[in-house]
Amino acid sequence: MLQPKYARESLTTMTEMVLPNDTNTLNNLMGGRLLHWMDICAAIAAQKHSNRIVVTASVDNVSFSEPIKLGNIVTMQAKVTRGFNSSMEVNIEVWAEDIPAGTRVSTNRAFYTFVAVDQNGRPIEVPPVIPETEQEQQLFESALRRRQLRLVLAGRMKPQEAKELRALFGVVDGE
Ligand SMILES: CC(C)(COP(=O)(O)OP(=O)(O)OC[C@H]1O[C@@H](n2cnc3c(N)ncnc32)[C@H](O)[C@@H]1OP(=O)(O)O)[C@@H](O)C(=O)NCCC(=O)NCCS
Repeated sequence: MLQPKYARESLTTMTEMVLPNDTNTLNNLMGGRLLHWMDICAAIAAQKHSNRIVVTASVDNVSFSEPIKLGNIVTMQAKVTRGFNSSMEVNIEVWAEDIPAGTRVSTNRAFYTFVAVDQNGRPIEVPPVIPETEQEQQLFESALRRRQLRLVLAGRMKPQEAKELRALFGVVDGE
């Protein structure tokens, strides 16, 4: 097993200003552009944790609750929640700030999964995560259930094998 690393060691903050080329015809940030920025920010966090080249394996449901407007400042913060074998889950949060108006709102949150790969693109082991804060511990524990859910949905795990996920719904082994 590789030497464990603290969750905080992967903390990555990225800031962007929404320019005309980033917007749709309503002058709001395009969803695809935001996903692109989020992917980069989350990938940097995964690289910091694994010290490896990483590839995006999946992105969990991202919702767009608030439009982000032209001229807003977008801040993204990403941190690895848990390392498995070759994959890592990254939690990313996004805020939009209107500096002249003095407002800052939380706009998005998502979980990305990255896989560390070697020079030939083959999956390679990643270090375990040591969670410290209460939020890091909660994210660490729930990461196992989210992993099971996404692998079941991707057809990579049988629902019967998702033990912790089944327990959450009160399903006990043998049912
Ligand atoms: C991700 C990738 C490396 C996995 O390769 P693979 O041959 O399926 O390897 P494995 O079956 O050994 O899986 C490796 C890890 O990926 C994880 N994984 C694979 N598909 C996944 C998915 N859809 N969601 C979450 N994790 C996934 C597995 O759970 C496993 O994790 P673990 O090692 O921590 O247990 C491979 O599918 C790939 O290269 N995909 C393209 C990545 C890419 O180009 N991303 C950019 C998209 S534009």
